[in-house]
Amino acid sequence: MNDDSPTPPPSSPRLIVIDGPAGAGKSTVARRLAEHFGIPLLDTGAIYRTLALIGQRQGIAWSDGPALGQLTVDFPIAFKTGEVGGRLVQQVLYDGEDVSVAIRTPMISEGASRVSQHSEVRAGLLDIQRALAAGGCVAEGRDMGTVVFPDARDKFFLTASLEARARRRHAELAVSGVELAEVQREVERRDLRDQSRAEAPLVQAADAVVLDSSHLEIADVVDRVIEIIAGRERPA
Ligand code: DC
Repeated sequence: MNDDSPTPPPSSPRLIVIDGPAGAGKSTVARRLAEHFGIPLLDTGAIYRTLALIGQRQGIAWSDGPALGQLTVDFPIAFKTGEVGGRLVQQVLYDGEDVSVAIRTPMISEGASRVSQHSEVRAGLLDIQRALAAGGCVAEGRDMGTVVFPDARDKFFLTASLEARARRRHAELAVSGVELAEVQREVERRDLRDQSRAEAPLVQAADAVVLDSSHLEIADVVDRVIEIIAGRERPA
């Protein structure tokens, strides 16, 4: 393989970044890669979700960029990773409280998309994300390859058709009885907002490898990523 990307020195922590729209399979791919390489997972969407939740609890409007930015100044978020049956399971802790379930509601999905529009919020969360990734990790989000870790070597942009992504989200929410059409509308609305915001919009980094999971099994996407990384690290 003729690939002149620099090979990281053995001492540098491994960093793999995955960006893409909601429902493309990023979380599953990122989790499986973290398991494969034995490194932590950094779910940056969970950080925006936690900010939306804490903002709501403190009576701060999701439209109030300066107040939300202020909230990031001292933002005691932590991830606790455990293993259940060989699978990584991650808890999101805010000031020691497990908020993993509370941040996954449709309302907080909407709130996270809204709070993420503000420059004060994005700037405030930048160092937090970099500090959490310092020891190496698989980082997933919307602007990992473009803004947070522009120097990462292994950047992937995972996408899929709107229909395929809505179907996946619907299957995840199956127990809640939401209609597929409603899920599709929600995904479309969030996509539009995430892609059209002025600050760090969802776009693929010029040097990211784009993978379309519309007609691929998630396991095949994971294999492809592992193969690409192995190709880069194979001695010439
Ligand atoms: O990945 P997710 O669905 O949990 O993310 C929730 C929202 O957070 C998403 O609509 C946009 C925002 N987000 C962001 O702006 N930048 C990131 N790196 C991750 C998420």
